[in-house]
Amino acid sequence: MRIFSGIRPTGELHIGNYLGAIKQWVKLQQENECLFSIVDLHAITTPYNPKELQKNILELAAEYLAVGLDPEKCILFVQSQVKEHAELAWILGTITPLGELKRMTQFKEKSKKHPDYVNAGLLNYPLLMAADILLYKADLVPVGVDQRQHVELTREIARRFNKRFGPVFKEPQVLLPKMGEKIMSLQNPTKKMSKTDDPKGCLGLFEEPEEIKKKVMSAVTDSGKKIKYDPKRKPGISNLLLIYSLFSGKAIEKIEKEFKDGSYKNFKKSLAELLINSLEPFRKKRKELLTREVYIKEILEQGRKKAQLIAQSTMMEVKKQMGLF
Ligand code: AMP
Ligand code: TRP
Repeated sequence: MRIFSGIRPTGELHIGNYLGAIKQWVKLQQENECLFSIVDLHAITTPYNPKELQKNILELAAEYLAVGLDPEKCILFVQSQVKEHAELAWILGTITPLGELKRMTQFKEKSKKHPDYVNAGLLNYPLLMAADILLYKADLVPVGVDQRQHVELTREIARRFNKRFGPVFKEPQVLLPKMGEKIMSLQNPTKKMSKTDDPKGCLGLFEEPEEIKKKVMSAVTDSGKKIKYDPKRKPGISNLLLIYSLFSGKAIEKIEKEFKDGSYKNFKKSLAELLINSLEPFRKKRKELLTREVYIKEILEQGRKKAQLIAQSTMMEVKKQMGLF
């Protein structure tokens, strides 16, 4: 299978990114042809600092490597370095009704959040994402559930193109994790964890032990005392149980039993310890990789070359079918 996914270089990864997306990527790279991109052209659709973008790109590359993506097993590259992404996005825009873009949940949310920065790029965001995926004729797109709507639109766009111009694209399938498709904020457990929307409720993947402890101990829990998984009535404790389960590999019921007579405080202490131990290797590896800029740039350059070969070949097909070549 061919796999494509990407993350925007907007600052340190958090455990939601990891459990929703990257953890799956690390497994998938073993047996599939995978491309994982640093999608910088998507990152510039919301307010950002140009002076920090290159730094964020290199850091995200280091973070990809630190959590276990292996450049021998997958293609790691920066989206803007392969021009075909922008070129195909333009073309896809010419066959996509405006209404379909306006109804995207992410567009509505982000325009509400940045009312003075509702640029056309924000509206066209899903076209670029569709281009990312379709250029490589990916079969599967491993992402968190918030991105499902975009992958569905991508399928629709592929169908429409193929019908009008001939069969070029593959219809990709979204691949959600069995558990962890939407990790909630530690401060507001009915909202998804997000670095930009709610930094306090967001647990970074590379945070220092003291910070992890602080954030976990002050996580919002529910009234009552019972440690029980019940996302509707007990969203706070359920989110923590889910995180516990995903990092420990233990089933939720087993954890509930273990803490049957325990307090929220004891449970949180134990979760903090688990997270500190689980995340320590990532943090160390990231730190080490950040000192190896030349090595990281070389990996991205190799990735660019490989990705570009595929992208150019698809673009040639697209242009031929459309009468542009
Ligand atoms: P982003 O930071 O928006 O570029 O997201 C990168 C990836 O992480 C996407 O596949 C998202 O679906 C996923 N993701 C982001 N936040 C969460 C979350 N709170 N829970 C699960 N997955 C998430
Ligand atoms: N839109 C995705 C997000 O916000 C990032 C992304 C861009 C992506 N292009 C993609 C994800 C292609 C999967 C496939 O998280």
